[in-house]
Amino acid sequence: METTENQIAAQSPAGVAALEAIDVRKSLPLGRERIDILNGVNLRINHGEFVAIVGPSGSGKSTLLGIIAGLDSPTSGRVLLDGIDITRMGESQLASVRNNKIGMVYQAFNLIPTLTAQENVEIPLYVGKHPGKPSDRAQELLRMVGLGHRLRNRPTQLSGGEQQRVAVARALATQPAIVIMDEPTGNLDQRNSENVLQMIRDLRAATGTTFIIATHDPNVAAAADRSIRIIDGLVAPEEPRPEEPQTLA
Ligand SMILES: Nc1ncnc2c1ncn2[C@@H]1O[C@H](COP(=O)(O)OP(=O)(O)OP(=O)(O)O)[C@@H](O)[C@H]1O
Ligand SMILES: [Mg+2]
Repeated sequence: METTENQIAAQSPAGVAALEAIDVRKSLPLGRERIDILNGVNLRINHGEFVAIVGPSGSGKSTLLGIIAGLDSPTSGRVLLDGIDITRMGESQLASVRNNKIGMVYQAFNLIPTLTAQENVEIPLYVGKHPGKPSDRAQELLRMVGLGHRLRNRPTQLSGGEQQRVAVARALATQPAIVIMDEPTGNLDQRNSENVLQMIRDLRAATGTTFIIATHDPNVAAAADRSIRIIDGLVAPEEPRPEEPQTLA
């Protein structure tokens, strides 16, 4: 019998991680050779946690996020979402889980060039059932990211930072249980980066959403509950965090 995302939602018993990666490996062909990108990543992220994924450029962060978001498959290893293995799901079942459970901000935004900012945010709301009017929800989210005055612009008519904020709004549109973001503040100035962080804090307080964010931005890493460092495709041993004032999430 196929497992549905509704079963996943119904099966969130205490003690089951929001997301677990078990010995995830990824290698890809490059010319005649194969290169190892992920070399046995193990992660356990609890419901409602905000985890920063940090580490040098090229260490495998985006590759890992793509795999835990179910967009890419590992060469071996397993990814459990609420205890259920998404690496064994068929494509349509996985697509449904992605649409209902996961919001994703890609490092390259992946906005649809022919659609306006508002339409880009509405898109996930037309897949499956979501309460409210897509256009109202899209406008509300775009106002939250400071783009209420750019609803009708297409991606080419937006700055890089504005496109990034549209991508953030789109990821949050369906109120997913897990939001996975790849460098969501990479192109933003301090004020807009702080706005994105504030949205994350507000959402966590209101909904208990789990956030997994790959970042080179020290402000994002400092706002997270903890950081997981990826080096050469592996989770580096935890370092003690430097003393810093505790911010209220
Ligand atoms: N399709 C591919 N084919 C071959 N190698 C790839 C492919 N995609 C990524 N890589 C390699 O895998 C490694 C990890 O890439 P990845 O994008 O995951 O790094 P990252 O940690 O996200 O880096 P950054 O901080 O720069 O975003 C890099 O060395 C990259 O060149
Ligand atoms: Mg990356």
